[in-house]
Amino acid sequence: MPNIIETNNLTKFFGKVNVVYHLNLQVPKGAVYGFLGPNGAGKTTTIKMLTGALKPTYGEIKIFGLEMPEDRTEIMRKVGYMPEKPLAYEDMTIFEFLTYMGRLLGLPKNKAVEQARDVMAYTGVGKLAFNKIKELSSGQKQRVTFAVSLLGDPELLILDEPTSNLDPLGRMEFIGKVLGLAKAGKTVFISSHIVSEIERMCNYVGLIKDGRLIEQGRVSELAKVEGDDYDIIVSDNRKLMESLMDKLYIKEIWEEEGILRVKLDERFADQFFKELPELIAQEKLELRLFKPHTSPLERILMKRFNMG
Ligand SMILES: Nc1ncnc2c1ncn2[C@@H]1O[C@H](COP(=O)(O)OP(=O)(O)OP(=O)(O)O)[C@@H](O)[C@H]1O
Ligand SMILES: [Mg+2]
Repeated sequence: MPNIIETNNLTKFFGKVNVVYHLNLQVPKGAVYGFLGPNGAGKTTTIKMLTGALKPTYGEIKIFGLEMPEDRTEIMRKVGYMPEKPLAYEDMTIFEFLTYMGRLLGLPKNKAVEQARDVMAYTGVGKLAFNKIKELSSGQKQRVTFAVSLLGDPELLILDEPTSNLDPLGRMEFIGKVLGLAKAGKTVFISSHIVSEIERMCNYVGLIKDGRLIEQGRVSELAKVEGDDYDIIVSDNRKLMESLMDKLYIKEIWEEEGILRVKLDERFADQFFKELPELIAQEKLELRLFKPHTSPLERILMKRFNMG
């Protein structure tokens, strides 16, 4: 699969301060790529370089196989960008603003109007069409910024913390929309520090810390190499606990709020997966829950960011 975004040793210094260092991003076509890192990690700086708003100190950026910033105009024709700090045009109404932005993209007037209407409806600001930008709440502004990024039906979306001001329902809706965009074949690059959100919409992830990419790849692949800690509920937890207690593959097992918590010895984990269904059948138990205790991405993060 060809990469839509690829960077090679992408580096940014502000004066003597190194903010992004030797970043090698690889974002495959059709990926929903979560760019995850704590405050100040260098996400926005990276995104500004990807969209040509900021010039790298050194290193290369290729988007659609073209060079940024050299081919910026051509690249940005196919990119929808949602910046972290949006919306300068405070005195325009949402409708005016979106139509204006569509015109800037080169859409003819009637198309710009049509698309403004579409994206307003899609992002849930249709009712506010004739409100001025300055009259909007921060969440409403964020919806408008998302709407702008969708104008021109771009192939690639680059979204810098797109949900930071949204309410819980807005966040859920947003996740649904991103999944919809992915289904329609778009590539989506999203920065965030909200693991649960990234987890629900992204199939690729890049972890950035102190300007360095410390992990990158398919979420499913990264999750495989991590340790094992499971939650189980069966019709009789005590019974299952007794039969598991002395097994070689069990490091620890205990019950907590009606859930059996199991820590596995990774060396013998295969055996656990083989034997568990057999034990459950033997004891005539009913399996009600079986899942990793922490989500795979959380586990990766705890290890990589030294939080666990
Ligand atoms: N124009 C600038 N001049 C000097 N330092 C800057 C400049 N812009 C950003 N920085 C510094 O670069 C570092 C990375 O900032 P950046 O905005 O890229 O982080 P971020 O990962 O987007 O953080 P957040 O999650 O808070 O949005 C920070 O330490 C910041 O202070
Ligand atoms: Mg940022």
